[in-house]
Formats: sequence, C-alpha cells, structure tokens
Amino acid sequence: MEDQVQVTKMPVIGDLAPDFTAVTTKGTIKFSDFAKDKWVVLFSHPADFTPVCTTEMTGFALRKGEFDALNTELMGLSIDSIHAHLAWVQNVREKTGVYFDFPIIADIDMSVSKLYGMLQPGESETAAVRAVFFIDPKKKIRLVMYYPLNVGRNMDEILRALDALQVADEKKVALPLNWVRGEKAIVPPPKTLDEMNERIASKYEMVDFYLARKDI
Ligand code: BEZ
Repeated sequence: MEDQVQVTKMPVIGDLAPDFTAVTTKGTIKFSDFAKDKWVVLFSHPADFTPVCTTEMTGFALRKGEFDALNTELMGLSIDSIHAHLAWVQNVREKTGVYFDFPIIADIDMSVSKLYGMLQPGESETAAVRAVFFIDPKKKIRLVMYYPLNVGRNMDEILRALDALQVADEKKVALPLNWVRGEKAIVPPPKTLDEMNERIASKYEMVDFYLARKDI
C-alpha cells in the first residue's frame, strides 16, 4: 500500500488569521480580541531553554519599543508548558536582565501550531519551526516567514518588512529590493498606452516606463 501523504492547509498571504484561544504567559488570550486596531507579529520558536531561541527571543524583547512604534503587538509560541515558559523568562531575566514582556503561547496540545502550519514534520515532528506571521489590524495575514530549526531569523529584516508593509499600504506604492524608510518607492507601472506615454513624458526617475521611482 502506498504511503498516504497528509496535506494540511497552511495559512497564506491574504487569508484571515485563524482564530484561537490559548494559554499564554500573559493569561488566556482569544486571538480575535487581542490587539484590536493593531498589527500583530505572531512567531513560533522550537523550544524554551535552547540557545538559538534564546537569542531570538532576546532580540524581540530588546526591540519591542520599535514594534510598539509601529503599532504592533508581539506574540510568541512554542510547544512547551506554561511552567517551562515562566521558568525560561525568569532564567533569562536573571542571567541577562532581558525580560520577555509579551505573551508567549504554551501550545502544549499543538493546536495553534497546527492551525498556522508551524509544525512541519520534515523538519521536526515535535517542535514548531521558526515561523513569523505579519497580521494587519483587520486580522489579515500579510507576510509569512518560515525558518528551519538551525537558522535564526534576522530582526532587522522582520522590522524592515513590517515597516515596508505599513508604508506600502499608507502610500499605495510598491517597494523595491532592500527598501528602507527614506528611500524612493516604485510607481505602479502603466496599464494603457496613454498611461505609458504619460509616464515616458514624466519627471520620475526612470529606468524605463515600467520601472520608475518616486519620493514618498
Ligand atoms: C535552538 O534554539 O538552539 C534550537 C532549538 C531546537 C533545535 C535546534 C536548535
């Protein structure tokens, strides 16, 4: 008999973030009631008391002020108990002075991990991969990152991507490779010959009519 491949629907860009109620280090939270009118960065780590995860969690904690400035709440998750989470938070605070002051889900039954495609059996059957979901104030998933167990994420890129999503929404533009605040945006390409001719005659910084940049 052939092996059956089990396919789980992973939440993708444009989906509404699946709702859940979970035990966290900040008490029980129903996701749809969390961070009303704010962005959420929901991220998973494989396990408490592990080195790469400790560096990542410390990174989120140290830069929480930058997430606050972007109207964004953080929410972590791993398949560990609430007791393990509390002990880890306290241990890191004792050893380094860094305090993880955001909710961390104790997903001991793996229900939230499964809902968000954070359990990827080819990588691990028992630990969540390093996922990051960028969720907008309408609870729509806007960007997803998945990293394996042995490679830590890049906090500069997480913050840059969050900022870019918000600027792209606000200014109704697209943003090019490596864009950071202060740089020019891409002008949406023309869709008709008239628009093309207008673009060619415009003063935008232009490589060609379909690749033009403007200040924002
Ligand atoms: C770590 O965070 O160091 C780690 C966690 C799970 C597997 C491998 C590394």
